[in-house]
Amino acid sequence: MKQQLIIEPLIEARVPLDVVVHRAISEFLNIPPEQVITQPNKKKYYDPDHPESADQGLQEVFSIMRDLNLQGLEDRDLCRSEAGGMSFLEALQAVVQDFTDMAPQTPVHYVELGPEPIKTTEILQRLVESGVQIRSYTALDINPASKFVMDSCVRRFVAAEKINHVTADYFSLPGLGIEDDGAQALVTMLGFQEGNETPYKIMNFFRKFVRPGDVLLSEMQLLSTANWLPIFRFYGSEQMRRFSKLGLQRTMGNLESEYGVVLVPVAMEITGSGFVAATTERIRSDGDLNGKIVVTNYCIKYTEEGFRRLREFDRRFRVVSQRVTGDGSVGFQLAERC
Ligand SMILES: C[S@@+](CC[C@H](N)C(=O)[O-])C[C@H]1O[C@@H](n2cnc3c(N)ncnc32)[C@H](O)[C@@H]1O
Repeated sequence: MKQQLIIEPLIEARVPLDVVVHRAISEFLNIPPEQVITQPNKKKYYDPDHPESADQGLQEVFSIMRDLNLQGLEDRDLCRSEAGGMSFLEALQAVVQDFTDMAPQTPVHYVELGPEPIKTTEILQRLVESGVQIRSYTALDINPASKFVMDSCVRRFVAAEKINHVTADYFSLPGLGIEDDGAQALVTMLGFQEGNETPYKIMNFFRKFVRPGDVLLSEMQLLSTANWLPIFRFYGSEQMRRFSKLGLQRTMGNLESEYGVVLVPVAMEITGSGFVAATTERIRSDGDLNGKIVVTNYCIKYTEEGFRRLREFDRRFRVVSQRVTGDGSVGFQLAERC
C-alpha cells in the first residue's frame, strides 16, 4: 500500500528528540527502524570518559563552528534574498541595537550557552560601543575546547577576574551561577542550538534558567516560506560535511560513509507541524553496519511565527524583537523573562 504523507503527532512531551527523529526518518523515508542509528546531539561535543579534556576532534568541532561564523559575518550578502532585506550580519547588528535600545547604558552579565568567538566579539563590541558595561562573562559549554579561545576573545571587554568558564552540560546546572547584584543578565544561545532539543525541554530549561528581568537572545535557522534552499546550502557546506564525519567517528569509529541531508516532517508539541533537518552518513564498509544510516546531527526548523509562539507559549517570556534575514532563513530573537 502506498504510504501517505500524514503528519502524525510525533513529538510528545518528554520523548527525547533523538527518538522522535529516529521514528520520523524511518517512517517518512520508508527505511526499517533497525537500519537507522540515531544518537543524542550532545555526544558529538564531549568525551564522557574525560569530560574536562579536549582531544583533537573536539578542538576541530569548535573550530568548525568558529569558521562557519567567520564566513557568515565576512560575507556581507549572506542570507539576503534576491529581493533584498537584511544580511546575516545586519540582522545580528539590528537585534543587538534592539537590546541596547531597551535599557541603554545599564550594566549586564553576559552568559553564553555554547560559546563561539566570532559573533560574540561582534555583539560585545557593539554593546561596549553603545555604553553598556559588561560586568561579567560566563561561558557554559559541554565542550572543553572553547575555554582558551573564549578567554582570550572576551578579555578585550571584561576584566580577567570576571570571566568564568564552566565545562558542563547546561541542562544539569541549577541556574546561571552569576552574582545577584541587581544587574540584568543577557543570556545567549546562538548557532541554531535551540533546535537540538524538543520544544518542551527547551521551554522548561529557559524558564528555570533565565531569571525574571533577564533577556534571552536566541538564533535559529527558520523554515522560510516556499524556499528551503538556504537550509540545504548550509548543510551542504564543507564545514557541516566535516562536522558530520567527526560525529560519526566519535560515536562509531572510522568507517567509510556517504553524506546526506534530509528534511523530515514532525508534529511539534507547541508550534504545530514542523520539520527536522538531519544530516546522515550511509555506511559503506564491509560488515554488519554496511548500508545503515547514521544520523549525525538533527535540528528542528521552526517557521518565523512558530519561533515566536515557542517562546511565548508558557507566558514566562515576552518577545521584544525578532529580526529575520532577507531570505527568511535565520532569525535572531530577543525575549524578556517576565
Ligand atoms: C550548534 S553549536 C553552536 C555554537 C555557537 N553558539 C554558534 O553560534 O556557532 C552548539 C554549541 O553548544 C554546545 N552544547 C551543545 N549541547 C550542550 C549541552 N547540553 N550543554 C552545554 N553545551 C552544549 C556545544 O559545545 C557547541 O558549542
